[in-house]
Amino acid sequence: MHQILKGGYPFHVALNKLAQVHGPLMTVWLGPRQPTIIVSDHGLVWKVLVSKSPDYAAREFPTLAKLVTADFRTIVSSNAGPHWHSLRRGLQNGAIGPLCISVQAPLQESDMAQMINNMIKEANLNGGVVKPFHHIRRATIKLLARLCFGSDFSDEEFDATMDVMVEETLKYSDNARMLDTFSPARFLPSVKRAIKQMEKLKLRVEECIGHHLASPPPPNCYAHFLLSQSFPREVTIFSIFKVFVLGLDSTGSIAPLAVPHKATRDTTLDGLHVAEGATVMVNLYALHYDPKVWDEPDQFKPERFMESSKEFLGKRGQYSFLPFGAGMRACAGLEVGKLQLPFAVSNLVNAVHWSNAVEGEEPNLSEDFTFILAMKTPLEARIVPRGI
Ligand code: HEM
Repeated sequence: MHQILKGGYPFHVALNKLAQVHGPLMTVWLGPRQPTIIVSDHGLVWKVLVSKSPDYAAREFPTLAKLVTADFRTIVSSNAGPHWHSLRRGLQNGAIGPLCISVQAPLQESDMAQMINNMIKEANLNGGVVKPFHHIRRATIKLLARLCFGSDFSDEEFDATMDVMVEETLKYSDNARMLDTFSPARFLPSVKRAIKQMEKLKLRVEECIGHHLASPPPPNCYAHFLLSQSFPREVTIFSIFKVFVLGLDSTGSIAPLAVPHKATRDTTLDGLHVAEGATVMVNLYALHYDPKVWDEPDQFKPERFMESSKEFLGKRGQYSFLPFGAGMRACAGLEVGKLQLPFAVSNLVNAVHWSNAVEGEEPNLSEDFTFILAMKTPLEARIVPRGI
């Protein structure tokens, strides 16, 4: 771990640099206790996620995360099996199935109009400059809240509280990993504080979501499905919370290492033995920045994703572009993600003209040292409504 920390690079970048020296299949000791297998090549990642999906369909979560995952019984944190399958099917066939998504279309349009108005207001008060991610997050919370509690749901206070709670969860999860990686970290004041804060967060999530389960939710929302299955109350509450955590995480920060997988049985990878229970992380970042597949991977070249593009058409290109993961444990909200992000971006591009907050000063794209992709300096931009 200190080898990785000393470089000062974000975790996924440091692992990618190590992979260039030691190869695409590495065992890394993240602390003294537990070896983690890191996979950084598209062929091997495809094996883990797709061809041998059942062999790697369990999850590895830090111990402390049990507080906000109902003891690892939410979709993302439970091992593949009937409980996980039921939670996942309930979300995908009901709340985010085609019927519910089509009901959302007009509501999302008014969310977008409101989001753009709010951004213009903020710009007017701030010399033309806005922080756009905050607005995109709020619009996404509104959408996720309707998927969870029904299409009539609207509660600004809930949106604001949820925004803060998700932010805190992501912040504490780094400390939670540190604790599992390096157990003496429990004596660090910052980690002690994080444990206490996580316990308090659990209670706040229970109260905030529990409050909205007091009266029966309308059919076709996730809360309705969860209550109809008589899951323990804690599972219902934290399954809803995880929809916000995962759905929001992806608005500003995409998981470059996906969510850690765990081997469900003794198996093999590239002819090597992988023991049951081994943690396996796929470095999606390494795939998305592979210079053997992508021409100038660091450059912003959206045309590379055009259907006619040589890079994207090739099989290698398709295996090397997995923002949602793939296979059994691929993103359960893929359909929502594929709709919401382009919808928000196209609305933003249509409504306002964008430029650097300070003329001639490009945004600082450097990343924070976390397990998720996050900008060190949150993006600020200058906007001018089109037509002015
Ligand atoms: C651009 C948007 C999104 C991206 C790029 C994204 C990406 C991902 C990735 C990489 C994973 C891990 C896959 C793996 O472990 O192999 C994941 C898991 C997951 N995502 Fe998303 N996600 C997005 C939006 C959403 C939304 C909107 C929701 C909820 C409606 C959601 C719900 C989930 C769930 C429940 C899982 C866990 C699946 C499981 O463990 O079976 N995601 N996502």
